[in-house]
Amino acid sequence: MKDINLDIVRVTEAAAIAASAWVGSGDKKAADKAATDAMRSRLNGIDFKGRVVIGEGIKDESAGLFAGETVGSERSLKVYDLAVDPIEGTRPTAHSGPEALSVMAVAEKGALFSTSEFYMNKFAYGPEIARKTILSITDPLEKTIRLVSKATGKEPRRIMVCLLDRPRHEPLVAELRGLGVRIKLIQDCDVSAAIAACLPESGIDLLCGIGGAPEGILTACAIKCLRGEFQAQIVHKDGSVEPRILSLDDLVSGECVFSATGITDGSLLRGVRYTPQGPVTNSIFMRSASGTVRRLTAYHGN
Ligand code: FBP
Repeated sequence: MKDINLDIVRVTEAAAIAASAWVGSGDKKAADKAATDAMRSRLNGIDFKGRVVIGEGIKDESAGLFAGETVGSERSLKVYDLAVDPIEGTRPTAHSGPEALSVMAVAEKGALFSTSEFYMNKFAYGPEIARKTILSITDPLEKTIRLVSKATGKEPRRIMVCLLDRPRHEPLVAELRGLGVRIKLIQDCDVSAAIAACLPESGIDLLCGIGGAPEGILTACAIKCLRGEFQAQIVHKDGSVEPRILSLDDLVSGECVFSATGITDGSLLRGVRYTPQGPVTNSIFMRSASGTVRRLTAYHGN
């Protein structure tokens, strides 16, 4: 996938800049439409044919880039799968919260797991833990924390588990409290939280709990590049969790690249800033084939 490169960063940069005009506006729909239009327009300028496999969820009532849409040059022979989220964090964008990103991943044709479900049960941890132990999303939490403690050399009270702050997670939070671990409750944006679990300086050891399914595929692409570990289970509309464990390779079976650009300030990336010389963006771009992680600051001019 050498031919898919920094063009992808331009796509998330353009979407983040478009979204940034709506920060604090209270208008999620308008922010999402602006980011989606900018993303589509940039994608159509790339010499490839991209088939959207993971697109905007109907849950977002968004402006498009739905699964099945094709973008790029119709004539190009380079055909890829795309996972896109013009705004990962429409709430923090519209209400000026942290961690909103524009994200996308490009994978070999046929490599991305496709699902129309809204939610996934997720379980992510970084390469340091993955090198030393094997964890399972279905193991009792007590066993998981014991294994994480052994792998990291940290006592449970020093282990940090991250999950979305949602009523559905109350039993999970109670169990984690009982085990004496530290808990980071996030309001939104579990893609950046899962990436954080792969970065030693973030202090997050594990991400778990139920979040958006499209975000789960994007997370899998990022974690593949970062050499971490990710497992997921589909959650049906009635709340039942499918027993099948989807591995990283089930979710993205071939090579991929991943790009994210900050919209609002977050622990992973700074948001878009405006200077007299124009907007400044911060992005992360990763390739699974090489494991390269690039951080890019771009000065866009007026
Ligand atoms: P969008 O803003 O892209 O819809 O997603 C934000 C988000 O917080 C995701 O990071 C997360 O996976 C999902 O929503 C959780 O969904 P819900 O808010 O319904 O619990």
